[in-house]
Amino acid sequence: MTVEINDAVWKELHELAVEATKRSYAPYSKYPVGAAALVDDGRVLTGCNVENAGYGVTLCAECGIISDLINSGGGRLVAFTCVNKDGDRIVPCGRCRQILFEHGGNELLMHMPRGIQTMAEVLPDAFGPADLDEVKEADVD
Ligand code: THU
Repeated sequence: MTVEINDAVWKELHELAVEATKRSYAPYSKYPVGAAALVDDGRVLTGCNVENAGYGVTLCAECGIISDLINSGGGRLVAFTCVNKDGDRIVPCGRCRQILFEHGGNELLMHMPRGIQTMAEVLPDAFGPADLDEVKEADVD
């Protein structure tokens, strides 16, 4: 199935991400984040950040999306956005770029503050599953 990614899709993702900020658990930073993504089969997933008294184990909103992706059947992410509580688009942190890359690859479209960019643009030369495969093949020789 090929999904079309048009203005209506970006609008829906933005609205769902804003709604997700309202479910955020961010008592420490007081910085709610909501994220939404489209899967290549048309599913739409959302996530919000979930903080913890052990600050370092906080789950970013993107983690919720990936958990939902795998738990609802997998697939490839094709479009992604995340916002703060004012609905402003924000950039995903470096760790989350890597987490998203695993499930969307270089072609994943990301609605960043400066506009729509590909994952290849926001995480150039990413380390991914293909790099591990290269080592496995070399080991066999
Ligand atoms: N946060 C996210 O949820 N996603 C990001 O990509 C950036 C940061 C959250 C983590 C923490 O709860 C709050 O924003 C402040 O860093």
